Amino acid sequence: MGSPLYSIPGTAPATTPVAEPTADAAAAQASPSTEARTVSEVLAQSQAGAVMDELDRDLVGLTPIKARIRDIAALLVIDKLRMNLGLQAQAPSLHMSFTGNPGTGKTTVALRMAEILFRLGYVRKGHLVAVTRDDLVGQYIGHTAPKTREVLKRAMGGVLFIDEAYYLYRPENERDYGQEAIEILLQVMENQRDDLVVILAGYKDRMDTFFRSNPGMSSRIAHHLDFPDYAPGELLRIADKLLEQHNYRFAPGARATFEEYLTARIRQPNFANARSVRNALDRARLRQASRLFADQDRRFTAEELTAIAACDIRASRVFQAAATQGPS
Ligand SMILES: Nc1ncnc2c1ncn2[C@@H]1O[C@H](COP(=O)(O)OP(=O)(O)O)[C@@H](O)[C@H]1O
Ligand SMILES: [Mg+2]
Repeated sequence: MGSPLYSIPGTAPATTPVAEPTADAAAAQASPSTEARTVSEVLAQSQAGAVMDELDRDLVGLTPIKARIRDIAALLVIDKLRMNLGLQAQAPSLHMSFTGNPGTGKTTVALRMAEILFRLGYVRKGHLVAVTRDDLVGQYIGHTAPKTREVLKRAMGGVLFIDEAYYLYRPENERDYGQEAIEILLQVMENQRDDLVVILAGYKDRMDTFFRSNPGMSSRIAHHLDFPDYAPGELLRIADKLLEQHNYRFAPGARATFEEYLTARIRQPNFANARSVRNALDRARLRQASRLFADQDRRFTAEELTAIAACDIRASRVFQAAATQGPS
C-alpha cells in the first residue's frame, strides 16, 4: 500500500491548526507527473477504481449502497481534478451514517470505504477504528474526555466507526457522560474533517430518533446509507462466497439443504442476515471435521476435505426445532 497521492486542503478556520501534509503527499503534489487531468488518470494513479471493482465483485447484492459509494468516489475524483487546475477545493464533509439490521454488511463496507478514501487521498492512512459507547464514555466524572480524545487520536487519518452510536445519548439519565463524548465528537467532526471520517452505525429507527434529538450530529452527517436485509437468494450467494474464501464448497445436494436451512432460520429469533450465514457455515465446518475425524485410517482426497455435505447442514438444531425453538 502506498502513501496517499494528494491531500485535500482543510476548511478549518485559520485559528485552528491544520495537520501538515505528509512528506510523501507534499512530494506527490510537487511532481508534475501526478497532475492528473482526467478521471481515468486519477483512478489509475490512485487505484481507487480497483478497490471499487473489488467491492462490486466481493460483496453480494447491496446495489444501492454500491451506487452511493461510486457517487462519493466521483465527487472526490472531480475534486482532485479541480485541485490540479488550481481551483480552490473545499474538503467535502464525508461523515456518514450506516443504518440497517445486524449482519447487513455495514462493518464490511466501512472497511472498504476507508480504503477508497485513502486511495483518493481524503485521509492519510485509511485504517478503521471500530468502537462502541464503552470505548468513548467513562464511568466517572473526568474520564470521558480523555477516553474520547484517545480514540479520536487513534482514528485520525482514517475512519472512526461508532457501532450503535445512539447509545451515546441517554436522555433518561440527566447526567449521562455520553453527552460529553458527543460534544467532543462534534467539534472534531467539524474542525478535522479533512483527515477523519466518522461513520455512525446501527438500527435505522434508533438512529432516526438519535438524529432528531441531536440536530448538531444530524447536520454534520453528509451521507445516510441504509443497508437492506438480504433476500434469500443473496444469502445463498453469500454462503457460496464465504465457503470459497475458506476453500470449501457445497457437495452435491448440500446447497439445496442450506437453502432449506435459511428458510427456517430467517423465521427464527435473532436472525442476523449474512452473520447468521457465516455462523451456520462455521458450525457446518465443525460437523464436517468431526465426521471426517471419525474415519481415522482413511486418506482423504482434496475433494472430500473441501466438501460440506448435506448431512453437515441437516444436523443443525434449526431443522429439528424449526417451529418451536430458537437458533442452533
Ligand atoms: N454483501 C456481502 N457479501 C458477502 N459477504 C458479506 C456481505 N455482507 C456481509 N457479509 C459478511 O457477513 C458478515 C457480517 O457482516 P458485517 O459487515 O459485520 O455486518 P454488520 O456490520 O452490518 O453487522 C461478515 O463476515 C461479512 O464478510
Ligand atoms: Mg458491524
